Amino acid sequence: MSIYGEYHTTLTTLLTEVQRRILAVNQEMQQNGQPKLFEHLIGRVKTPASMEEKCLRKGYPVTTTSALRKCKDAVGIRIVCNFIDDIDRCLEYFKHASWCSIVQEKDYIKNAKPNGYRSYHIILDVVTPHVDIDGHTPGHYFVEVQLRTIAMDSWASLEHEMKYKHNIANPQRIEKELKRCADQLASCDVQMQTIRQLINATD
Ligand code: GTP
Ligand code: MG
Repeated sequence: MSIYGEYHTTLTTLLTEVQRRILAVNQEMQQNGQPKLFEHLIGRVKTPASMEEKCLRKGYPVTTTSALRKCKDAVGIRIVCNFIDDIDRCLEYFKHASWCSIVQEKDYIKNAKPNGYRSYHIILDVVTPHVDIDGHTPGHYFVEVQLRTIAMDSWASLEHEMKYKHNIANPQRIEKELKRCADQLASCDVQMQTIRQLINATD
């Protein structure tokens, strides 16, 4: 049995269900002639090994309760948007959706991390037909959603890759360049948003 115990398959099912809901909203939006909420999304159930590592790192006992209740990112979805405004449109959707409620928000767009990381993180409490770890049906499960633009996403994936290269000659220089790059991309996102508004104003 993994750290997820008997709930592992439920997490996988939940991920699929939540992704389907979000994809359906995007489709509906486009069918109604509105711009899409997001460009694409990806999701994952955190591997048992990295969940165990996270529990140890945070000083939690390595138990299913820690994995599902103390940690809130066993199920994670990343939504990648074309424009910054689309992140707000997605947030509006989640705020009003009946199947979930937002229990935590971290705005790393207004407050970028010192390294330049930008994204809007929310933790959803999702109601499911499945039993949860407290024995409740419908059950409650946490899902982490990361909302970012394409520019923020491309930066994050490059930076993530660099983290695992340890024999770099000049890490401070790389950090400085990465930070500069993040800030330039952020300014591009603002410009892109302006261009979109200019285009929309003419029709
Ligand atoms: P962890 O989940 O243990 O990392 O801690 P947390 O949930 O307290 O942290 P936070 O909400 O800040 O970040 C959660 C996730 O955001 C990470 O697992 C990454 O996917 C992403 N993330 C946060 N900071 C960075 C960063 O500096 N660079 C990159 N590439 N991704 C980040
Ligand atoms: Mg996390």
